[in-house]
Amino acid sequence: MILLDGKAVSAKMKERVKNEAVKLKNSGVEPALAVILVGEDKASQTYVASKEKACHACDIKSIMHRLPEQTTQSELLALIDLLNLDDSIDGILVQLPLPKHINTDKILESISPNKDVDGFHAINVGKLSSGLDGFVPCTPLGIMEILKEYDIDVSGKNACVIGRSNIVGKPMANLLLNASATVTVTHSKTKNLKEICKNSDILVAAIGKPFFVTEDMVKDGAIVIDVGINRLDDGRLVGDVDFDSVAPKCSYITPVPGGVGPMTIAMLLSNTIKSAKNRVKKA
Ligand code: GUN
Repeated sequence: MILLDGKAVSAKMKERVKNEAVKLKNSGVEPALAVILVGEDKASQTYVASKEKACHACDIKSIMHRLPEQTTQSELLALIDLLNLDDSIDGILVQLPLPKHINTDKILESISPNKDVDGFHAINVGKLSSGLDGFVPCTPLGIMEILKEYDIDVSGKNACVIGRSNIVGKPMANLLLNASATVTVTHSKTKNLKEICKNSDILVAAIGKPFFVTEDMVKDGAIVIDVGINRLDDGRLVGDVDFDSVAPKCSYITPVPGGVGPMTIAMLLSNTIKSAKNRVKKA
């Protein structure tokens, strides 16, 4: 069994990003990411602070907009409009979840697809689905990067994605399909989930339930990717996979923490560089 070291892959990616950022800066384009946080959600505050720190470490300019909980939808739309028009901004990220009085779909669709470094805009979702170049959501993109780094070819393999979220499950399925895997998307209503999992060469668990994937659901020699980040009552951070019992059966497995998690921010930075390069092409 080989541990897939997302922390190491992420460090390598950040190094690459930093080199590209310096090159862009020297040619007169400073890569810049605008991050919008509405309200006081503690987890979101932590994520946004990590994004800001990673930008600084990689020579990407970060422009933070911390807005009060009572911010109206039209105020938020007006800010996004300004950022869409600002030629010095390459990426716009609105941290989710948004307060309940704001329509998330409406906000995500208002971000210019050319600056949508989260890959959540319908245009980018459609491009991914059609196999066209666009922005791809960071967590599944990071998983593909880990597989690439370990020379794991998914072509022809049976892959099962557990979870159908717009942020992970659906884009993950499309990426694997585009890479010629045979993909099954399963979720909380799937009837023969265990059977499908057991048949899979690649298992991606993104369902948000601690220890959901148990040893009896995993094929011998499977590649298991754990997207879960679950905090237990005793404070422990665990994935969606029962690591101790599953790991001995796998050819490769991601740990939690230190697996998929570190890749998300690295790919956000990478998407911001991609957008900055597009700015150079347009100039
Ligand atoms: N909240 C949790 N994950 C994400 C993410 O990848 N992007 C944004 N914008 N918000 C999130």
